[in-house]
Amino acid sequence: MTKVAIDHHDRLGAVEIVTVDSPKAGVLRRRAKPVGRVTADMQRLIDRMINAMREAKGVGLAAPQVGVSKRVFVAEVEERVHVFIDPQIVKKDGEEISSEGCLSVPGIVADVPRALQVTVKGKNRKGRGITIAAEGLLARVIQHEVDHLDGVLFLDRVVDRSTIREVTASTEVEAATPPA
Ligand code: NI
Repeated sequence: MTKVAIDHHDRLGAVEIVTVDSPKAGVLRRRAKPVGRVTADMQRLIDRMINAMREAKGVGLAAPQVGVSKRVFVAEVEERVHVFIDPQIVKKDGEEISSEGCLSVPGIVADVPRALQVTVKGKNRKGRGITIAAEGLLARVIQHEVDHLDGVLFLDRVVDRSTIREVTASTEVEAATPPA
């Protein structure tokens, strides 16, 4: 289990990222529940998730990864933060195989085929309906995080098992695809 201190002033408290070897790992395999109305508590959770994602140098983080079985995830790609609540992938196009890692499966990367482009519908952090078309890394992160909401881990999506490899902390930071 990785303990992540997310705020030096400790106003937001520390958040724990649940890993596959954690006693709480069951939450990673559960189908998360819809959020529905976006409350102040949900706003606070989202802020803590964004901080935890940044602290862990990840590009995405889903609520089950912090022990909350709700359908919400955050992503940060090209310095832009995205928040998706109750997301649904409504369109997928193309395919791309690329290296992927996961903050809940530390030290392991593997090649995962994903759709190259996706269209996702959901709500933003204000609860407003959004539709976003994404491609490349953001599209990959969205698919990885929606999988988390369905209890699916990236290793389940690996086709060529020979691409599963261990990475050290230093090479992980330099990996083409940061963990999500
Ligand atoms: Ni992940």
